[in-house]
Amino acid sequence: MQPKLIDPFNRTIEYIRLSVTDRCDLRCFYCLPEDYRDFTEPEEWLTFEEIERLIGAFAALGVRRVRITGGEPLVRRNLPDLATRLSQLPGIDDLSLSSNAVNLARQAKALKAAGISRINVSLDTLHADRFRKITKGRLDRVLDGLMAAKAAGFAPIKINMVVMKDINDDEVEDMVEFCIENDFTLRFIETMPMGETGRNATDHYIDLQTVKQRLGERYELLPGVMPGGGPARYAQVAGTELRIGFITPLSQHFCETCNRVRLAADGRLHLCLGQEHSFDFRPLLRSGATDTDLRDAVIEAIALKPERHEFNEKPRQVVRFMAKTGG
Ligand code: GTP
Ligand code: 5AD
Ligand code: SF4
Repeated sequence: MQPKLIDPFNRTIEYIRLSVTDRCDLRCFYCLPEDYRDFTEPEEWLTFEEIERLIGAFAALGVRRVRITGGEPLVRRNLPDLATRLSQLPGIDDLSLSSNAVNLARQAKALKAAGISRINVSLDTLHADRFRKITKGRLDRVLDGLMAAKAAGFAPIKINMVVMKDINDDEVEDMVEFCIENDFTLRFIETMPMGETGRNATDHYIDLQTVKQRLGERYELLPGVMPGGGPARYAQVAGTELRIGFITPLSQHFCETCNRVRLAADGRLHLCLGQEHSFDFRPLLRSGATDTDLRDAVIEAIALKPERHEFNEKPRQVVRFMAKTGG
C-alpha cells in the first residue's frame, strides 16, 4: 500500500509548496516591504539536486502534489530544469506553479514542456495605474504572460485576486467578465496579517461572504468544483464556464482540511502559513544524510504541524511576510 504522511491532527499531507527564492520582482504593498533588503543569499538556497532529493523523500511517503512558488519563482535561474526533475519523480502527479507572470511570456513554453501542467497567477487589478500603485510593476507584462500561458496550453489558469476595500473591491465584476472572456478561473483571497506589510493591509480587509452576496445579485451562482488541492471553495457562474473560488482564511478558516506544508528556499520546512513551527533540512542535506535519515526527518517534521493558524486571535503573531514562505 502507498505510504501516507499523517499529521498529529489526522490530516494526510499530500501537497508540498516549494519556494525556490524569497526574492520578487514586484513589491505588492501587502506582501514585501518596499525597501526590504534582507533576502537569503543564493548559497543558502537548496540546489536543484538537493531539492530533487528532498522532494523525492516526501514523494516516497505519499506526497503527490508539488507547487513551485516564491517570492517570485521565475526569478530563479533555469527553473525549467528543476521542473523537469520534479515532474519525473515517481509519485508526483500534479506539478504546478504560482507566479506574478511578469516574466512568464518568455518562459511559458519551456515550463510547459518541463512538465508543469497548471499555473496560478496573482492579479489584483486590470488598471495599469492601480497595478503600479499596488505592485510597483507593469500590468502589460502580466497580461502578456497570461496570454503566453494560454497559448502554451496551461490548463487551468487561475487568477488570484486579493480583494481589498477601497483598493480594488470595485473591480470584482470586471474581473469576473475578464475571466469569462479568457477562460480563466478566478479566485478571491482575503488579506492575511502576515508580517508588518500584511498587517497594514488588514485596514482594507473584506469578508468575502459580502463579495459573494454582491455577485449573487448579478450572476446566478451554482455550487462548483475545480481540480486542485488548495483551500478555495468554488461557485460556478450559471450559463458560463467560469468557476469562482473563495479563499477565506479569516472569515471561514479551512485548517481542519489542511493537506500541505511549505519548503522555503533555504531548506526550512514551515508547517503552517500562520505559525512559526519549522524544521531545517539543509544541515541534514549538507552533512551526508542517508535516504533513511531523510525519511525519518520528514516524519519527524510532519509531527510538528500545528492544528491551525491564529490570524483572528493573534493578528500580531506572525513575523514572516508572504514572500518568505511562498503563499
Ligand atoms: P490549487 O492547487 O490550484 O488549489 O492551489 P492553491 O490555491 O493552493 O495555490 P495558490 O498558490 O494559488 O494559493 C493561493 C492563495 O491561497 C495563497 O497565496 C494564500 O493566500 C492562500 N492559501 C493557500 N494555502 C493556504 C493555507 O494553507 N493557509 C492559508 N491561510 N492560506 C492559504
Ligand atoms: N494576504 C493575502 N494574500 C497575500 N498574498 C501575499 N501577501 C498576502 C497577504 N498578506 C498573496 C498574493 C499572491 C500570493 C503569492 O499570495 O497576492 O496571490
Ligand atoms: Fe511578489 Fe507575490 Fe509578494 Fe506580490 S504577493 S510582492 S508578487 S511574492
